[in-house]
Amino acid sequence: MRVAVIGGGPAGLYFSILMRRVDPDGEIVVYERNRAQDAFGFGVVFSDETLTVFEHADPSSYDEITSRFTRWTDIDIHHRGTRTRSGGHGFSALGRRELLGILQRRATELGVQIRFETECPSLDEFGWADVIVAADGASSAIRAARADDFGPTLDQRDCRYMWMGTGLVFDAFKFFIVQTPYGVFQAHAYPYDERMSTFIVEAGEAAWQRAAVDRVTDGPLPPGVSDQRSIDFCGELFADALEGHPLIANNSKWVRFVTVRNRHWRSGNVVLLGDAAHTAHFSIGSGTKLAMEDAVALAWAFRRHGAGDVTGALDDYEAERRPVVESTQRAAQGSLEWFEGIGRYVRQDRLQFAFNLLTRSRRITYDNLRLRDPEFVRAVDDDFAGGAFSPRPPMFAPLRLRSLELPNRVVVSPMDMYSAVDGTPGDFHLVHLGGRSLGGAALVYTEMICVSAAGRITPGCAGMYAPEHVEAWARIVRFAHRQGGCAIAAQLGHSGRKGSTKLMWDGIDEPLKDGNWELIAPSPIPYSERNQVPREMTRADMDEVRAQFVSAARDARLAGFDLLELHCAHGYLLSSFLSPLTNHRCDEYGGDLGRRARFPLEVFDACRAVWPEDKPMSVRISATDWVPGGFDADDAVAFARMLHERGCDVIDVSSGQVSPDERPAFGRSFQTPFADRIRNEVGIATIAVGAIASYDDVNTIVLAGRADLCALARPHLYDPHWTLHAAAEQEYDGVAWPVQYRPGSRKPPSARGDGVRKELERSFEPDPPELLVAPDGWS
Ligand SMILES: Cc1cc2nc3c(=O)[nH]c(=O)nc-3n(C[C@H](O)[C@H](O)[C@H](O)COP(=O)(O)O)c2cc1C
Repeated sequence: MRVAVIGGGPAGLYFSILMRRVDPDGEIVVYERNRAQDAFGFGVVFSDETLTVFEHADPSSYDEITSRFTRWTDIDIHHRGTRTRSGGHGFSALGRRELLGILQRRATELGVQIRFETECPSLDEFGWADVIVAADGASSAIRAARADDFGPTLDQRDCRYMWMGTGLVFDAFKFFIVQTPYGVFQAHAYPYDERMSTFIVEAGEAAWQRAAVDRVTDGPLPPGVSDQRSIDFCGELFADALEGHPLIANNSKWVRFVTVRNRHWRSGNVVLLGDAAHTAHFSIGSGTKLAMEDAVALAWAFRRHGAGDVTGALDDYEAERRPVVESTQRAAQGSLEWFEGIGRYVRQDRLQFAFNLLTRSRRITYDNLRLRDPEFVRAVDDDFAGGAFSPRPPMFAPLRLRSLELPNRVVVSPMDMYSAVDGTPGDFHLVHLGGRSLGGAALVYTEMICVSAAGRITPGCAGMYAPEHVEAWARIVRFAHRQGGCAIAAQLGHSGRKGSTKLMWDGIDEPLKDGNWELIAPSPIPYSERNQVPREMTRADMDEVRAQFVSAARDARLAGFDLLELHCAHGYLLSSFLSPLTNHRCDEYGGDLGRRARFPLEVFDACRAVWPEDKPMSVRISATDWVPGGFDADDAVAFARMLHERGCDVIDVSSGQVSPDERPAFGRSFQTPFADRIRNEVGIATIAVGAIASYDDVNTIVLAGRADLCALARPHLYDPHWTLHAAAEQEYDGVAWPVQYRPGSRKPPSARGDGVRKELERSFEPDPPELLVAPDGWS
């Protein structure tokens, strides 16, 4: 087989080596524009789990690479004059120059032709090659030449970094966080041989701009120019960290990080490899690791398919690598955004900040970190619990909202059951919500309770607009309080343009076959082509709707609810005022966010005025429409600030469902970053919701300070007793099981042979003596 490889970096060289092993008689030519000895950058870092792949791929280069490794297990976080150490991580690094030298020698030994100082010929000149591998980096010329086929997106981020080195050899992976008058600058540093460490300085674009204009140059620093003044500036900023060692530059320049993604990795017989195909922010490890893993996958795809099936091999390679790469890119994106927003977190306490930093990509969680370093997690736990020793997982920390005391951080998220008759919740609702109220969650939300018959989504939606509704809800509230012992919240809403549709199981968002009712909305824009066109609301309509919300809030008070939530999410009436996609009004209720928010805020104020002073209120928002030009995270922060100023206690942070054109970035706890931003920028409590499935997620979110509460919807349909089970699985005894269920509270039931009766008796025994508080006078 004849193979042309463009780019003699780790991806291209490693692939060539492996390809010679797959096809020893083939021809491989590598085109590299630099000289053999021109290796830019300093060290490259690998985490332990990567290495076995390389061991099997080519034992010879593996042995040489690993014999040069510097290894360590600790991560140190230097922040506000203190160092916090977390152990058990497992990294290895070596110099980039060293790595390239090893790969160049090995490739040459195997007969690969490497043409240094050779610009890549145009693609037309590769007629001789069976396959052309574009391993020419993040700004790949080959990719640009075939942009229509590859469909690249280049997301230039709001952060800037510069790679440098230092002769100070660190004993851990180090994060140095420095607060400057310009904003936060941070350094990521690690040792890579017995003489040197990599030292990468990074800052948000705004902080960098302020520093660049003020300190670094006489005028704005020309991007892309290696500048001694920049290096001196960084040396000064990180003088303590560097302990007198200078920073060393090697083609070092301020670079704006670009996330590269491609719709396709193959165009004919041309294939993208490594950074040309994808980039991932350096803060979660090295692009070198991803690139070399790509090389293994591509070579092995040829081993499976042979020279006769280039297309099959290339497609197979992409099919295997894309999901892995995308998952890494998601984690890298989380990490990158965390560093972009680091200014939000620097005020956190030392241990919480460290835990937050370590779990930023969502790959490392509470449980995972506990396995790596139990002492560290115990210290963070104790600190979170107020400084005393605490055997309590963070999700069981109490929270107070006005006079409402919540014993833990788990919430049953609002879920419409489409099972009411004329708006009246019936036996189904009693059993459904009652069942969840017995499950250990601190707070159970009702489904959206519609403030009028016309404000229902479907004929099966529950309401609070008729006298019988109040008593029906009061019955459920009484059960939740007396039997479940939990708090219960009413979510009030109006369907707006998404009303008059079928029950969930008959067709979500589909208009009724017959019996449709008139819809109202801020603007006469239907939800989709098949939905009704709503009537544009007049001021009189607004007065009427506001009065309906107030009346429902009064009734919710009568019914005994503990918390009132205003539903301003998911494209329903109040949400559609907020989104520029659905609000095209030209009066004072349309236009900029201040105007679009006017009616929702008016409703909030009116409800707050009749809702008891000592009871909290929350507002559910869609923090983004997931549509360009729609309501976005900046709007969400601004709207949350407006609500905070008006006495809102909690923002319940959902997203989307405003437009059928949405393109949500689904994934584990994918909406939590919005709750995090609002909480830490506005200083208001938040509820995170969406794809939070495990108690490990809840512990991690709460302990890192990303949200105060976690709402779980579908997991509570699967397991009504989700919180009780989470406590049992964590061997935490501090949750009160309903007395009727206590015999089932041990998991698994013990088989000590005492018989069921003894077991039952034991489950009603008083707490063991060591848990009892001695009354006064006892010695
Ligand atoms: C059957 C069902 C009904 C829902 N009804 C409501 C609702 O009435 N109000 C609301 O704000 N969200 C509603 N949601 C959204 C959930 O509260 C939650 O935000 C979403 O399901 C994501 O959380 P999860 O991944 O834990 O399921 C509903 C979700 C489901 C599955």
